[in-house]
Amino acid sequence: QTYTRGLDFERPPLTFQASKWEELACSRLSADSKGYVYGSAGVRETTDKNRAAFKKWSIVPRRLVKYDGFPDLKTEILGEQLSVPIAMAPVGVLKIFNPDGEMAATRAAAQEAVPYILSTASSTSIEDVAQANGVDGQRWYQLYWPSREHDDITISLLQRANKAGFTTLFVTLDTYILGWRPSDMDNGYNPFMRADRIGVELGMTDPVFRQQFKERHGVDVEEKMNSAAPEWMRTIFPGTSKGWEDVEFLKSHWDGPIVLKGIQSIVDAKKAAEVGVAGIVVSNHGGRQQDGGNSSLGVLPHIVDAVGDKLTIFFDSGIQSGADIAKALALGADCVLVGRPYVYGLALGGEKGVEHVLKSLVGELELTLHLAGIQSVKKEHLNREALVLEDD
Ligand code: FNR
Repeated sequence: QTYTRGLDFERPPLTFQASKWEELACSRLSADSKGYVYGSAGVRETTDKNRAAFKKWSIVPRRLVKYDGFPDLKTEILGEQLSVPIAMAPVGVLKIFNPDGEMAATRAAAQEAVPYILSTASSTSIEDVAQANGVDGQRWYQLYWPSREHDDITISLLQRANKAGFTTLFVTLDTYILGWRPSDMDNGYNPFMRADRIGVELGMTDPVFRQQFKERHGVDVEEKMNSAAPEWMRTIFPGTSKGWEDVEFLKSHWDGPIVLKGIQSIVDAKKAAEVGVAGIVVSNHGGRQQDGGNSSLGVLPHIVDAVGDKLTIFFDSGIQSGADIAKALALGADCVLVGRPYVYGLALGGEKGVEHVLKSLVGELELTLHLAGIQSVKKEHLNREALVLEDD
């Protein structure tokens, strides 16, 4: 029974509850780290809608559903066996929340048998994260896609990730430039600019970038972090988007499934199916990019109806609990990604804190399904019949 499986994390002595952990983490973080994780685009309209959308759907429990034991959470995603349909969303620069950053997060992921998605904006190298994630760890790589003039850097990142055992590639499409984030702007904050202060390696360990930097400046990146950090940032957030035709380039340089992250439109979901990727993440980046946008959950069922039989559908933006996960799965997601909740766990308790958040989400999902008489996460058991849309 997962939900009794050792909630052994003592500090803070609270059962995981996203809002409480958010408050506690924010009270302990520096203003700029807090602004970075809690902050959203604009006036938080998209972020607020992400949350509100979950409340519109209610789980309708069924009675006298007899089965042995507890609900079966196992699933298969893109050829991999997952113990639960949950993965850790890519989150950049984790060392600003805890000195162990990505190492702590990826160890916790392996410990809890949850796939870890490593961000291109990582503050730890691809190779070190792979090693910490271990031989049994499931790891996927997220690409912030440099402009086509830097194809050599993109190829280097993809080859390194492939070699280090990252199996699926997530290509984030909604962040070719950072969103209008008032808290970061007020704090004069940009995580990359802290690279020199906290010794963050960033992806600057990429040998192709390093080589080119040396040719440009005559010194190594470490000797000129004040230039290297913004140059790396401009490389991975080039300011303009690629087109659908460019996806072919990634397909020819990645050995494994490709998933497009940041899809909100049915039209784009259909295009993704047409260009032959394996899946999409229905995501609005947790409301951190486009303000005045729709809720991610609101578009999920429509996208599932359009392409659910052709693509693996991942979902994120706004998940805070096991019940939220149950709702997203019932609306047709094959797997969900969780972002901020584990960052709060990292900020409060390092590796143990992340483990605790993951344990809690899995445990609460299991118990939520059990109480609703839903015996597995398979679509035959967990589907829209489990939900009712409440009137406003
Ligand atoms: C993110 N997200 C993100 N996404 C991505 O593709 N690459 C990245 O480097 C980051 N970095 C990042 C930093 C922080 C602090 C946050 C909170 C989020 C977005 C992330 O993958 C995911 O889409 C959202 O976090 C999902 O929303 P919730 O779960 O935070 O509500």
